[in-house]
Amino acid sequence: MTPSRPSAPFDTADPAFLADPYPRFAALRAAAEIHPHPGLGMPVAVSHAACSAVLRGRDLGRIWADAEPADSFTAFNLLHRNSLLEREGPGHHRLRGLVASAFGRGHTARLRDWVHALAGRLVDDLASRIADDGAADLLGHVAAPLPVEVIAELLGVEGPERALLRGWSNTIVTMYEPEPGEERRAAAEKAAAEFVGALRELAAFRRRHPSDDLVSGLLAEAAADGSRISEDELVGTAALLLMAGHEATVNVIGNGVLALLRNPGEWARLEPALVPTAVEELIRFDAPLQLFERTALVDVEVAGFAVPAGTRIAALLGAAAHDPAVFTEPGRLDLRRHPNPHLGFGAGVHYCLGAPLARLEVGAALQALRDRLPGLTLAGEPPRRPDFVMRGLRSLPVTVVTSRRAPRGAGRPPGSPGAPPSAGRAAPSAGG
Ligand code: HEM
Repeated sequence: MTPSRPSAPFDTADPAFLADPYPRFAALRAAAEIHPHPGLGMPVAVSHAACSAVLRGRDLGRIWADAEPADSFTAFNLLHRNSLLEREGPGHHRLRGLVASAFGRGHTARLRDWVHALAGRLVDDLASRIADDGAADLLGHVAAPLPVEVIAELLGVEGPERALLRGWSNTIVTMYEPEPGEERRAAAEKAAAEFVGALRELAAFRRRHPSDDLVSGLLAEAAADGSRISEDELVGTAALLLMAGHEATVNVIGNGVLALLRNPGEWARLEPALVPTAVEELIRFDAPLQLFERTALVDVEVAGFAVPAGTRIAALLGAAAHDPAVFTEPGRLDLRRHPNPHLGFGAGVHYCLGAPLARLEVGAALQALRDRLPGLTLAGEPPRRPDFVMRGLRSLPVTVVTSRRAPRGAGRPPGSPGAPPSAGRAAPSAGG
């Protein structure tokens, strides 16, 4: 990624900024609610009120512009042009209604026990890796597989495609970063083409063999109320659900567990009754999705800042989440924080359709970790992904302490020489 120009209020390629963007956001917010950002090519809103106005503004919309040159990005553009997230007005309303009704068929409730059992199995696997190697990667063994397995199960993706899903999605979403570079752009198109092919097969299969999955539900909803969903719209909607359905959730679990392990007092107080407010606080504390943009449909003003028709403006969700005008002591992790009006799931007509499912998954992961590995602790400084928009870690090395004694492996990467072979054996499995 090429660094943004020096006059920019922050540099999205600066590792120090990426490691902790919140002090910079605070300094910007103290000066003004909205700042021009020449590097990003649009102004950025940094207060809660201004971000909320950007997301809710009726004169601001998500207007899709094809990646260029368009004939080199056929599959990438097809997926996005047909995604409800990239539409406004009646087209958005129709597709959103279909997805909401399909979700309303009880899928999230049906999956509740299954998600908890899956979280338990993944944490047991993490525990036995720690027992064998002294430390293990929580991101790779819990945070990443949990949401991918859940969304694949929900959409009825089976077999080899399930294993490919995360790679396709990870590669495609790098296009959302500022200046992704030629190599990542080409890889994103290749992944999108494979993804489209797999989703066309899935749609055709479910038309012939409907089941209780969400794709079959979408087809049934479309048939029931007479509104139609084209083949490309079904592919675009399934792709959106598969990508939106796990990218953010992986990073909420990764960023959230890191925040908890850096605040051991909060980790120690995490009990089942606290899980619902803890989930909200982790989404607020270190936002997995930092930037959403809108285009002005007419000349409009946001917090006194003029946004001419056809130009873009961004809401920085991490900055909004640390606004002291709304959150007391925003830099403090407080699992009891309530109310917690963060904008992590968005606001207005594009408010996240998967919020109940995301809450279920993050809550299940927290509960399984707390029940089965209460002595969880960091086993080294986790490396961060070099991205700004999708904020997350590359890995999260952890170990466990079983007594008051400090972990011998702490501070060493997993599997490194001298890491204890059996530091903190896993608590016995509680089933699942
Ligand atoms: C903690 C995890 C998640 C976070 C933080 C999150 C966040 C968001 C945000 C901020 C938006 C609004 C985007 C905008 O206004 O431009 C959104 C939209 C959306 N999300 Fe999520 N999401 C999460 C999980 C999920 C899951 C699990 C699913 C599906 C299974 C999902 C499906 C969607 C869909 C379909 C939309 C588009 C809604 C529309 O355009 O009307 N999300 N999400």
